[in-house]
This record gives sequence, structure tokens and C-alpha cells, in this order.
Amino acid sequence: MVLPIVAYGHPVLRKRAREVEQNEPKLDQLIQNMWETMYYSEGVGLAAPQVNQSLRIFIIDATPYSNQIAGAENVRHTFINPQIVQREGEVDMMEEGCLSIPHIREEVARKYAISIQYYDADWNFHDEYYSGMLARIIQHEYDHIEGILFTDHLSTMRKTMLRSKLSNISKGRVEVEYRMIFPFMKKSSKTKT
Ligand code: NI
Repeated sequence: MVLPIVAYGHPVLRKRAREVEQNEPKLDQLIQNMWETMYYSEGVGLAAPQVNQSLRIFIIDATPYSNQIAGAENVRHTFINPQIVQREGEVDMMEEGCLSIPHIREEVARKYAISIQYYDADWNFHDEYYSGMLARIIQHEYDHIEGILFTDHLSTMRKTMLRSKLSNISKGRVEVEYRMIFPFMKKSSKTKT
């Protein structure tokens, strides 16, 4: 099932997500829905808080970009309870976007390489090293489960310049091809139930 994507300004995007339990109810269903949602909205990665679940899970499918990103042909992974254990190398700048922040792309500074430990959807443990674009995508998604957005990394000047655009997104003044959950929807759904 394709889920709506939480928009900038919603508090779930600002929470540090909690660890996933091995017997987490409906975990397989959530992960399946996340894959469907990510493909539908044409993202390369998606974190659980973006579908309004404050859990330490994100998914990445870099395989469609295998001719643009080195090493991408094998990277279609579910990351559960991930931990970036090391960030290393030079800091480089590259443009990023986010399904929760539509139509905004900005250069973000990130370390060139990471080591990450995580569990996959079958609870197999992984300890892997990524560099370049893959390390960037992983760091972006990892930020989501820490309550951090890519706009947080921008200079004060860039943030000031984006303020009204971000405010418009949080108020639902944005056109996208996928459904979104806006901050103001939180209250209205509560009053109904
Ligand atoms: Ni994002």
C-alpha cells in the first residue's frame, strides 16, 4: 500500500526515532509499504518517520542509478536499527533533495565515506563501508531517524532564503504527484477519532 509522505514542519520528522523490536507488530507490512511508497514517489531512499512511523528503519534502492553511481547495482537494502560507526574522508558538497521537502534542492556538505552496522529485514547483521554518493544517500536517510533534515545542514543565509518556501510546504502550499501529510492534518484527524 502506498502511504502518504509526511511534509516538512510535521513534528514526527523532528523526533529521534526509537529502536525497532524483533517482534515489532506489523513490521513486514510497514517495510513492504515503505518500498511501495518509495517507488511510487520515485525516491532513492525513504525513512520510516517520513511515513509517520517514528522507528529506526530506512530503505534505499540505488539500483536504478547504477550507470550514474559507482557500486549502486547491488544496493537495495532495508536498514533496521542502523548505526553509523565511522564517518571519514573529505567533506564534499553535493545537491540533495527530499520527498518531505518537495522542489527544494540544495548543496549539502557531508563526509565522503561511512561505516554502518545494521540489521536487514530478516534480522541478519551487516557491517558495511560505503563511499561517495551511496554514503551521502545513507547519511541523508540516517539523519531522518535522528530527527534531522538536509536543510539543517545549510548556512544561515541559505536557510533564511528558503524560509518562505519551507513555510509554504508546511502549510500544504505545494504541488506533488504523491499524497502528503501536512502538520495541520494532525489535529483534524485527532478531532475526528
Ligand atoms: Ni529525505
